[in-house]
Amino acid sequence: MDPRTRPRPRTRPRALLARSAPAVAALLLLAGCSGAGGVDGTPGSAGLRDPYFPKLGNGGYDVQHYALKLAYDPKTRRLDATAEITATATQNLSAFNLDLSGLTVRDAAVDGARAAVSRAGKELTVRPRDEIDKDAVFRTTVAYSGVPETITDPDGSEEGWLPTADGALAVGEPTGSMAWFPGNHHPSDKATYEITLTVPAGLKALSNGRLVSERTEKGRTTAVWSAPEPMASYVATVAIGRYTTGTAKVRAGTAADVPVLTAVDPSAADAETAALAARVPEILDWQAENFGPYPFSAAGAIVERPGDLGYALETQTRPLFPRTAFDTPTLVHELAHQWYGDSVTPKSWRDMWLNEGFATYAEWLYAEDFEDTPAQESFDEAFDDDSNWAFPPADPPSAENISDAPVYGRGAMVLHKLRQTVGDETFYEILRGWPAKYRYANASTDDFTAYAESVAGEDLDEVWDVWLYGNGRPTDPEG
Ligand code: TRP
Ligand code: ZN
Repeated sequence: MDPRTRPRPRTRPRALLARSAPAVAALLLLAGCSGAGGVDGTPGSAGLRDPYFPKLGNGGYDVQHYALKLAYDPKTRRLDATAEITATATQNLSAFNLDLSGLTVRDAAVDGARAAVSRAGKELTVRPRDEIDKDAVFRTTVAYSGVPETITDPDGSEEGWLPTADGALAVGEPTGSMAWFPGNHHPSDKATYEITLTVPAGLKALSNGRLVSERTEKGRTTAVWSAPEPMASYVATVAIGRYTTGTAKVRAGTAADVPVLTAVDPSAADAETAALAARVPEILDWQAENFGPYPFSAAGAIVERPGDLGYALETQTRPLFPRTAFDTPTLVHELAHQWYGDSVTPKSWRDMWLNEGFATYAEWLYAEDFEDTPAQESFDEAFDDDSNWAFPPADPPSAENISDAPVYGRGAMVLHKLRQTVGDETFYEILRGWPAKYRYANASTDDFTAYAESVAGEDLDEVWDVWLYGNGRPTDPEG
C-alpha cells in the first residue's frame, strides 16, 4: 500500500500531553475529562502466542513492506544495515515491539521522528514520539549493525545467519530471520520485500524475487532484489558468495515465462548438479499443471557446498540446497513448497504439516508420474516406517518436533487417504483449489479440513480422526 494514502490522521500528540502530570491534568480538564483527547494508545503485545513460539511476532500492527539495506563484509562478518518497515496499526499504539536477536541498534525513527528504543532478550521495543492511531500506516526505520548470530534450534539444527567459506547464508525456519533484520517474525504477518545487498566486488549477492539492479563501484557490488508477492519472514533469504549462475525461462504451461535463476557454489558445480538445475523449469511446469498457476514472478534454486548448510529450505522463489541434498525428490519437494508453505503459509507453527505433508506428497506424485512408483507404494512404505507414528501430524508435542517424521510422512499419508476417499478428480481439485483460495495468505488445519469437505461435499471426519489426529498406527492401512 502507498504509505501516503493514510486512511486516518496518524498521530496524536502524546509527547506533549505526557510532558508533565499537571499539564496532562490541565489538558484533560480542558478536554472535559472523559474520552476526548486520547491517551488511549497501549503497547502492542510482545508475541502472537504461537503454540510453540509464544513470543514470536508482535501484536498491534501488520507489516506491509520491508525495505532492507544490508552491507556485509565476509572478512569481519560484520553487517551494517537499515530496515525500513511499513506497517498498519491494528490498535491505537503507544509503543510496539520488533523481534531482533543479537546485533546493536544505533537508532530508530517512526515517520521520520526519532523514537526511543529499548531491548529485552529478543524483543526490541520502539516508542514513537507520537502515538499511532489504529488503521494508520506508519514507517519505522531501524539502523543496526554487528556480527549476526547463528541460532541453534530446539531440534539442534542451525539457522539464522550462517557464515560460509566464501560469504554467508540467511535461513529463517522457524525463527532465524530475527538474527538479520528486525520485524514481525511470526509466519502470519506476511509482507512484500525489497532487499538491497552490498558486498565486496567479486562476490555475488542473491536474495528472493527479481534482480532490479546490480552495480559495482569502489570495490563493492550492490544488488537490489524485489519480492513483490507477500512473503513470510522465515522464507526470506540472502546468499552471498561465489556462484556459477544460470538463467532460463519456464517454456510452457501456466508458469510460462517465469524467469528462473539458478546459482551453484563452484565447488558443487559438477555435471550432475548442472543437469538437475536445468530441470527446474520442467518440474515447475509439471507442478503448475497439478497444483495450479505458479504463484510468484521469479523462480530458481541455490546450491551450496555441504559444509555451509545442513538441510534444504524452501526460501521463497529460490530454495536453498546443500549439494548433498540436491537430488530430484528434494528439488520437487522444495519447489512444491512454493505453493504449499510459501504462497499458502501456516497460521501457526502447529500447522506445519500443511507445508511438509503436501511437499512430501508432491514427491510421491512425481514418483507416480515419472518413476513408475504408484503413490500407494510410497504410502505403504511410510505406513511401515515406525518413525512416522510418534505423534499425530496436526499436533507435534513440542517445538523440537515440528520438523519430525510424522509431520512429513504421516502428513503425506493424510493426503493419500483423502485421495482414496474422494477420488482422483476431487482430490486434484482440492490440490489446485487450496493454494488458489489461500494464495498469499495464511491457513490453519481447520481451514484445510473445512475446505476439503466443502469441495468433496461430504463429511470427512473418518479420514481426519484416524490419519490426522489419531494416536498411533491403525491396524489396517486400508481403514
Ligand atoms: N522446511 C525444510 C524442508 O522441508 C526443512 C527444515 C529446515 C525445517 N529447517 C527447518 C523444518 C526448521 C522445520 C523447522 O525442506
Ligand atoms: Zn519441506
